[in-house]
Amino acid sequence: MLTLNELFKSIKKDIKNSKKIEELNEIRIKYLGKKGIFTSYIRNLKNFSFEEKKKYSMIINQIKQEIISKINHKNQELTAFILEKRIKKEHIDISLPGRRTENGFLHPITYTINYIKNFFYKLGFQSINSPEIEDEYHNFDALNIPKNHPARDSQDTFWLDDNRLLRTQTSSMQIRIMKEEKPPIRLIFPGKVYRNDYDTTHTPMFHQIEGLIVDKNINFSNLKWIIYNFLYDFFGKDVSIKFRPSYFPFTVPSAEVDIINNHGKSLEILGCGMVHPNVLKNVNIDSGIYSACAFGIGIERITMLRYGISDLRSFFENDIRFLKQFKYN
Ligand code: DAH
Repeated sequence: MLTLNELFKSIKKDIKNSKKIEELNEIRIKYLGKKGIFTSYIRNLKNFSFEEKKKYSMIINQIKQEIISKINHKNQELTAFILEKRIKKEHIDISLPGRRTENGFLHPITYTINYIKNFFYKLGFQSINSPEIEDEYHNFDALNIPKNHPARDSQDTFWLDDNRLLRTQTSSMQIRIMKEEKPPIRLIFPGKVYRNDYDTTHTPMFHQIEGLIVDKNINFSNLKWIIYNFLYDFFGKDVSIKFRPSYFPFTVPSAEVDIINNHGKSLEILGCGMVHPNVLKNVNIDSGIYSACAFGIGIERITMLRYGISDLRSFFENDIRFLKQFKYN
C-alpha cells in the first residue's frame, strides 16, 4: 500500500495529465468514489487507535479537500480550453449576408374580398360575416328551393346530420338578414361555401360574396347598374360582359353574368335577380311595399380572370411560388 503522501502525489499527477472532462470524472471515481482508492484509506482509519484516528483523519480530510479543489480547478481549465478550441474552429464569417425573414402578404382571395368590400362601401353598403354551418331551412327551404331540386342532392351538399349542413351558397344569409333587419337594407356578406366537387374549376370549398338590397322601388335596372359598375371597376372599362337570363328558385327574373376572356371563352362569374315574392313572404316582408334584388359573385372565378390563373386549385395548394406572385400590398 502506498503511503498517503505517495498516493496524493500520484493523484495530483493523474489530475495534471488528464486531457478531457471524462478522464477527470474517471479520476474522481477512481480515488474518491464509494469504492475509490482514497476512500479505502478513510475506511482503514477504524483500525487505528483513538489518538491516531484523530491525527490522521485531519490529514486525510485536508488531502481530500485538496484533491477536490484540484479536480474542480482542472475542470474549469479543461472547460475553458475546450471552449477556446471550439471558438477557434467555428470561426464566424460576419461578412456573410444574413438570412432575411420575408414579410407576409395577403392571399389573392383575401385581397379580392377586401377590394370588393371597398367598392361596395363607397356605395353605402355594409359587410357582415355569416355562419358556415347552416340548416336546411335557411340554405334551401326559405330560399324557395323545392325538395327535389338537384342542388339538394347529397352529391353536392355536405350534410352534417338530417338538418344541418355546410352552406352551399351565401344566399342562406339573405334569409337571416331579412328576418332580423327592417328595410332599407344594403348589405354584402362574403364567405366560404362548400360543395362536394373537385376538378380544375371546382373545389369543395370556395368563396362567394352575396349582395342584398331591400327598399321601396328597387328594380332590375338598379341591380344591373351595380353589377356593371362593379365589373368595370374590377376588370377595367374594356371588359366584355354577357348578361343573360337564367333561373334561380329564389329570384325572378334571374340573370347570370359571364365574362368573355381574351380567347373568346366565357366564364360564369355571378348569379343575380329580383328576390322572389315567395322568399319575401318567408321573411315577412310585404312585397306590395318593398322589393329586393340580390347577387352572388364567385370570388375565385373573378380572381382567376383578373390575374389569368387557369387552375382554381392553385389557390389552395399553398405553393409559395404561386402565392408569391401576389405581393401587391
Ligand atoms: N346562390 C347562387 C349560387 O350559388 C348565386 C346567386 C344567384 C346568388 C342569384 C344570388 C342570386 O343572390 O340572386 O349559384
